[in-house]
Amino acid sequence: MKKFTGKVAVVTGSAKGIGKAIAEKFAILGAKTVILDFDEVAGTKTAQEITKRYEESIFIQVDVSNSDELMSARKKVLASFGGIDFLIVNAGISYRHELNEISVEEWKQVIDINLNGSFYTVKAFYEEFTRNQGKIIFITSGSAITGTGGGAHYASSKAGQHGLMRTISKELGPKGVNVNAVAPRVIQTDILDQLYPTTESQRELVKKIPIGRIGQAEDIANITVFLAGPESSYIHGQIILADGGRTY
Ligand SMILES: NC(=O)c1ccc[n+]([C@@H]2O[C@H](COP(=O)([O-])OP(=O)(O)OC[C@H]3O[C@@H](n4cnc5c(N)ncnc54)[C@H](O)[C@@H]3O)[C@@H](O)[C@H]2O)c1
Repeated sequence: MKKFTGKVAVVTGSAKGIGKAIAEKFAILGAKTVILDFDEVAGTKTAQEITKRYEESIFIQVDVSNSDELMSARKKVLASFGGIDFLIVNAGISYRHELNEISVEEWKQVIDINLNGSFYTVKAFYEEFTRNQGKIIFITSGSAITGTGGGAHYASSKAGQHGLMRTISKELGPKGVNVNAVAPRVIQTDILDQLYPTTESQRELVKKIPIGRIGQAEDIANITVFLAGPESSYIHGQIILADGGRTY
């Protein structure tokens, strides 16, 4: 029997990038997975690939900034798998814009998806968590700590996620729910390619990272499954900075 056999992991923003790597890692360890994403084409493909290679995976199209869609996704998850054990709050967007370039609409969009979406996601699955004594893991960002990497809206939304995570950890810890955050800095995904579009800009970036490489989505997936496992149950309410030693 594998480590997570019989368990169910819901991962938002898992059609691609870090979320996809996380869903794959849970499936490799035996969990059934739910791919929640607004990208129908990539999400369907990811769920099919995971089902074919590892364990059953379903795709549900959801925009995490829409709480009604998350509530109906919850019903579909329960109908398919009966409950959930792990909730990975990962969906996010970023723009590397300076303050005077950020329109009010763009500010609202980033806060809506990254922060409000995190709250809606946890709220939608709240009852399942308290029943199953599950684990909630937020994928946030080192930018909440350093103020770099995205724009003011991005760092603010990620700092907001840290506040949400900390509050939930106080509230749900006594109910047996383990809550933590993983804060990556630079991970090789579409978001990174968008923020650092040239080979030269990525080469400059590597010079700032003591371990000498840009992180991979699998690095974050490895930390996430560790935080989901029983070995890490005394780590609670923490922000695990995953940055190759760059920040401190
Ligand atoms: N890549 C990095 O360097 C990096 C660094 C720090 C933090 N992060 C965080 O990691 C998380 C994943 O980022 P990534 O690099 O894999 O990004 P990505 O762009 O590769 O993937 C993001 C996924 O989220 C989905 N998504 C976006 N908005 C959504 C919405 N409203 N509803 C549902 N799904 C939505 C996208 O369709 C996509 O599948 C994000 O929260 C991001 O802020 C990434």
